Amino acid sequence: MNKKKMKKILKVTLLIVLVIFVGIQFIRIDKTTPVVAPDKDFIVTTAAPDNVASILTGACYDCHSFETKYPWYSQIVPVSWWLKDHIDEGREHLNFSTWGDYSAKEADHKLEECIEEVKEKEMPLNSYTWMHSDAKLTTVQRETLVQFLTSLRKMKTSGDSKLHNDHKKYEEDEEHEEHDDD
Ligand code: HEC
Repeated sequence: MNKKKMKKILKVTLLIVLVIFVGIQFIRIDKTTPVVAPDKDFIVTTAAPDNVASILTGACYDCHSFETKYPWYSQIVPVSWWLKDHIDEGREHLNFSTWGDYSAKEADHKLEECIEEVKEKEMPLNSYTWMHSDAKLTTVQRETLVQFLTSLRKMKTSGDSKLHNDHKKYEEDEEHEEHDDD
């Protein structure tokens, strides 16, 4: 194949890629959220203090609530699809906007998982803090958050052995291998 022909093939290929890229920009993600009662929100229900509330809204709420603030690059396909996936999955696992809908034992289980994820630095996701450097939590912020979440669990479980047992059972149902109860 001569050089001229190669160049032509390359040009046409690039053009096709460009056309596809522009074309898919019209496939928008759904950014609408259902209407939920504001008093079901985690921060409202638990009367979280301001410092805890700002950690949660700054580092968790984009994926774990209906109050997602979409970054500018969420306008770009296919990045938007990837973001949407994370948000949908995040909300499915844990939604602070509908906290009031969780049963006592569900809520306690979520709290336990939040404590674990924050302690182990699994959350917020690295792919998120990479673009949102202000969401990177400091040691003090992690401790503040863990302390508050732990205080909520103590409040719910103290002197209530039934709830405590239910919680154990819930964990078994979920087939957690390791079990680290207090
Ligand atoms: C970029 C989006 C994103 C952010 C920000 C984020 N999460 Fe998540 N979170 C996810 C996704 C996706 C999952 C489900 C998949 C997984 O566990 O990795 C998840 C799962 C979880 C789970 C459930 C784990 C389980 O096993 O069910 C907890 C608890 C959690 N996140 C807590 C938090 C907390 C607390 C914060 C803030 C400190 C946070 N997340 C920030 C996306 C996010």
